[in-house]
Amino acid sequence: MACSKALQRSSALLRNALAVQCPVISRASSWWSAVQMGPPDVILGVTEAYKRDTNPKKINLGVGAYRDDNGKPFVLPSVRTAEKRIAEKQLDHEYSPIGGPAELGKHSILLALGENSEHVANGLNATVQAISGTGALRIGGAFLAGFFPGPKDIYLPTPSWGNHNPIFRHSGLNVKSYRYYDPATCGFDFNGALEDLSKIPERSIVLLHACAHNPTGVDPKPEQWAEMSAVIKRRNLFPFFDMAYQGFASGDVAKDAFAVRAFLRDGHQIALAQSYAKNMGLYGERVGAFSLVTSSKDEADRTMSQIKIVIRPMYSNPPINGARLVTEILGDADLRKQWLSDVKLMADRIISVRSTLRNNLKDLGSSRNWSHITDQIGMFCFTGMNQAQCERLTKEYSVYLTKDGRISMAGVTTKNVGYLAEAIHAVTK
Ligand SMILES: Cc1ncc(COP(=O)(O)O)c(C=O)c1O
Repeated sequence: MACSKALQRSSALLRNALAVQCPVISRASSWWSAVQMGPPDVILGVTEAYKRDTNPKKINLGVGAYRDDNGKPFVLPSVRTAEKRIAEKQLDHEYSPIGGPAELGKHSILLALGENSEHVANGLNATVQAISGTGALRIGGAFLAGFFPGPKDIYLPTPSWGNHNPIFRHSGLNVKSYRYYDPATCGFDFNGALEDLSKIPERSIVLLHACAHNPTGVDPKPEQWAEMSAVIKRRNLFPFFDMAYQGFASGDVAKDAFAVRAFLRDGHQIALAQSYAKNMGLYGERVGAFSLVTSSKDEADRTMSQIKIVIRPMYSNPPINGARLVTEILGDADLRKQWLSDVKLMADRIISVRSTLRNNLKDLGSSRNWSHITDQIGMFCFTGMNQAQCERLTKEYSVYLTKDGRISMAGVTTKNVGYLAEAIHAVTK
């Protein structure tokens, strides 16, 4: 008896000792036992599957980052020069202000509104650096959730960039939608958009892609923007522009900012999210800007103070390196000129590969109308292929894309466009 008690005691001691050395926590007692596995990110999932494929002809059309004609990441020559200059300055690594460097804010808003902007000259903008475009949308969402005087409802185009919905939901806004894309034409559902916009409850927020709509590549024409602006004004809606691709769409920064500038001329006050990820290739630097364009300098100062209060508990202040690169480029006349030609080079390559893809499909005898490939603009093309066709492209041809038929034109090169056209033709016959 005494012997078995001693045995029990010593085995309990042993268990305790082992638990200290290699703690195996039972599922039921863990804090996280109820956490379910989340779904993988759709785009990252495409890239992972692409990496595993051993077919030498494989193509990744899922990725939303520019690639050169060899399919390689591209560092803009203007960015390389800026990097060298910054390195030579031997700068310190002190904290940035909450809203980032003032010059970055100034350069960003002038890039969006134009060098001669009266709004900027009159001090009507409140602009802060943001953690790229995503961060700008998030700051804007949080500010609107706290201070927007109308219903806290934001209306997104259908479809919209996949991250818009969660960004605004996390910010505390209710996410709703308006018609935008017409699958029948692979183009803009102008009448549907106007009809929906004209029914949105007054004083709501409406999100607009300033250019290069993601995921469809479908943008309104200038005269359609004018009508949308009029309806938005009539309904007393608040326009929030997401401009993640300025310059990258057409190759011309002023042309791509047309809608933003036209809305201001029409007397709107706006919110604006900008990103330098695509147009400067600064994806990993996470540099962008958030602005409000208000009705007075005093209003700009007051909203600016509150935007900083929104930022402070989120991440205190933004990273410095990307901001330095952008200010170096935009603040120097020669380097800026170089950047304008770098951004045009990227846009032109995308535009030209769109034409080649369309022509190749025609030459292969495709009976489909592929005009939307060249009508659409920017990084993405909404091909109109259905899920089964997309799956065949991947399974039989090692062409990787999201199941909604979106392809990143950045992944298409003069070397793989012929193979891609054959694959698309084969699955859409
Ligand atoms: C429409 C749109 N908005 C915003 C972003 C934000 O990008 P980032 O946070 O990398 O600047 C993207 C990126 O793909 C986008 O397509």
